[in-house]
Parts: sequence; structure tokens; C-alpha cells
Amino acid sequence: MAEASLPMSRRLLLGLTGGVAVYKAAELARLLIHDGMDVQAVMTESACRFVGTATLQALTGRPVFTDLWDTSIANSMAHIDLSRHVDAILIAPASADFIAKLANGLADDLLSTLCLARDCPLLIAPAMNRQMWENSATQRNLSALRRDGVLILGPASGVQACGETGMGRMLEAHELAETMHAFFQPKLLKGKRVLITAGPTYEAIDAVRGITNLSSGKMGYAVTRAALEAGAEAALISGPVCLEAPPAAKLVGVVSAEDMLAAVKKELLHADVFISVAAVADYRIKSASKQKTKKTDNNIKLELIPNPDILEFVAGLPNPPFCVGFAAETENLEKNAEAKRRKKKLPLLAANLAQEAIGAEDCAMTLFDDSGRHRLSKAPKIEQARRLIKHIALLLEQQKP
Ligand code: C5P
Repeated sequence: MAEASLPMSRRLLLGLTGGVAVYKAAELARLLIHDGMDVQAVMTESACRFVGTATLQALTGRPVFTDLWDTSIANSMAHIDLSRHVDAILIAPASADFIAKLANGLADDLLSTLCLARDCPLLIAPAMNRQMWENSATQRNLSALRRDGVLILGPASGVQACGETGMGRMLEAHELAETMHAFFQPKLLKGKRVLITAGPTYEAIDAVRGITNLSSGKMGYAVTRAALEAGAEAALISGPVCLEAPPAAKLVGVVSAEDMLAAVKKELLHADVFISVAAVADYRIKSASKQKTKKTDNNIKLELIPNPDILEFVAGLPNPPFCVGFAAETENLEKNAEAKRRKKKLPLLAANLAQEAIGAEDCAMTLFDDSGRHRLSKAPKIEQARRLIKHIALLLEQQKP
């Protein structure tokens, strides 16, 4: 399997219009370049009043275009040429005035003209005062843009540069950079429904105590994001974690393994793929107390009974979805992982070393399938998740009659 799942270098035209949030766009340009994108900045006259072209030029390593009548472009067709050499246009910040221009097809400066002349997707990140955002004229313009297929990113709510609080803050640079990265991922699972379990389960001993497994949920949440980026519908059944789920996923929060199994059964009906990332507790307490048990000086004994194996249950169904298991091992990684895959009858299992992976931001991973093992070098979990999704898509493709 080809390891890198990053699409080839993407070319983005970053349009900046007049607003204080232009300073965030400078940081955005830096992040996009860092992510390996090729960024061409185009600024309106008002944008240049907030940040100079020299800043964007230094960050992108390219001259910044501002003028419809730029004579440095050989055929004087800047408005056509610039939009022909990019995979998408992102306007950040998009001012209320610029949104109005886009909605009405105006083309009276370089940026609005090349938006009108484009043959690539257009995304905008609005930034404006909350009253301007709420104004029915702006909302009307946004509806028109949505109908025209323009993707609108944000805005967020919060304290604004003018001192007021409300909707209209441009998304943060890192959020926009992540969105662009996601936007450019190949839609390998378009039309598929993916069910993911993530995080630990918690098995109560009494009202305030319990046993659990170490799991941050980071990998399961990254897999959910990667599935969404690949165009799938995703349902995420999560044990207790401190993470924010991707807004586009259907999130079902659970506590115990029995809860998780019940939720999986409910969500399973239409799933094409089941990815079991959760660190499910293998045992639960036979008779958990509803009250807080009083402390004594005596030893106590807890009787543990096995929890159902959720993945084994799903994989054993007469018509199972494509099942993917995870294994975190402390030793004999490959032997244990392959044995687990065979026991649970899984077409694919992802394994890593527990001591390296739990709670970490990066991890190495090995995939086991019928054709053997595939080593994935250490990478951030989101990148590892994208590689996993790519491998799943490949195996699904191979399964087709
Ligand atoms: O715990 P174990 O190493 O066997 O986990 C292997 C795989 O089985 C993981 O994908 C995990 O989510 C799943 N599993 C499960 N239910 C359990 C135990 C494990 O679904 N009770």
C-alpha cells in the first residue's frame, strides 16, 4: 500500500478582503504553506489597509496580486489566469461587502473578477460585526451563495474587534487550515456509512468508583474525522473522553461496555463499515452497588465477569459490515495482533504499541489483512487515520464483484 495519504500538492488562491481578521489570514497562509499547499494570495485594496502585501508575499513566497490592471501578467488577463492555475479559491476574511458582490456577480476589482471567472470550488470565511452578519441583506446574500454551491466556513460567535459579542468572528487560522486540508482529501468513502467506537468504557464498582482502560479517544475521533473527510456519513459511539467530536458526526455518548454494545446494535443497521477503536473493558463488576460503599480497614474482593466482545459480535453477524479492529499490545505486537484478527474473523486490524500510542499525538501503526502486514511509519493520529481510511477504501474496492 502507498503509505502517504496526502493528496499531491494542492494549489489554493487565498483571497483577502477588508477586515481586522486579515491578520488571522496571514497566519492561515503560514499554516497552509506548512501543510504543503501552494498558496497564491490576492488582496483587495481594503485588505491592504490592514496588512501589507509584503507580509503575505514573505509568508507565501510568491508575489501578491492586488490589481486588475497588473501588467506583469503576460496577457494582462490576471483575472482569468490566476483562477485557472488553482484547485480552489478561499476568501478569508470575506467581508459583508465582498459577500454582497459575490452574491450579485459583481466584478469591479481583481478578486471579485477572478471569483466570477473561476472554474474551481469557492469557499468563504465570513468576518464582520454581528449586526452586519444578522442583517437580512447579508443573510439573503449568503443564501444565494449557498444555492450557487459556495461553501461557507463559519463564522464563529465571540467577542469582536469592535467590542461587541456575537456571530461574525472569522474561524481561527488553524480551523480554516484543517478545513482546507479536509476539503482536499479524496472522497474515497463517498456514499458509505461508517460506524466507529472510541474511547474507554467505564465499569462501575459503586456509585462513585469504577474500573476503566487507559484511552484518550484521540485515535477513534481522528478516524471519525478522516471518514467524514473521505465523504462518508459517520456515527461515533464514544466512551467518556475529553474531546470534541467532529460536528458532522452523529455522536452517541456511552459509559459501560453493555451501553456501547446496545448503541452499536442500534446504529449498526445501515453501516457499511464498522471500525472498533474503543478500548472496551474486558470485565465488569458482577454486582455493582448503587450506593457509595463505605471504607473499612478490611480487604475486599470484587467479582469480575466478562463483558461481551462487541467487535466479535458484529463480525459474527450473518451479514456483517466491513469490520476493522484495533489492538494495543505491550509485547509481541505482530503475533498477538494477527492472532486477534483471526480469532475475531476480521478483514483488517490496526495494531500499535500501547506504551507508545496511548494518549500520544503521534503513533506508528501496522495494518494486518489477508495479504499480510503493512507498516505505517510514525505520524500524527489524523494522518494515520487517513492512511487507514485509504486502506479500507482499497479493500472495499477489491471486494467488489
Ligand atoms: O481488547 P482487545 O485487544 O481484544 O481488542 C481488540 C479489538 O476488539 C478492538 O478493536 C476493540 O475495540 C474490540 N473489543 C470489543 N469488545 C470488547 C473487547 C475488545 O469490541 N469487549
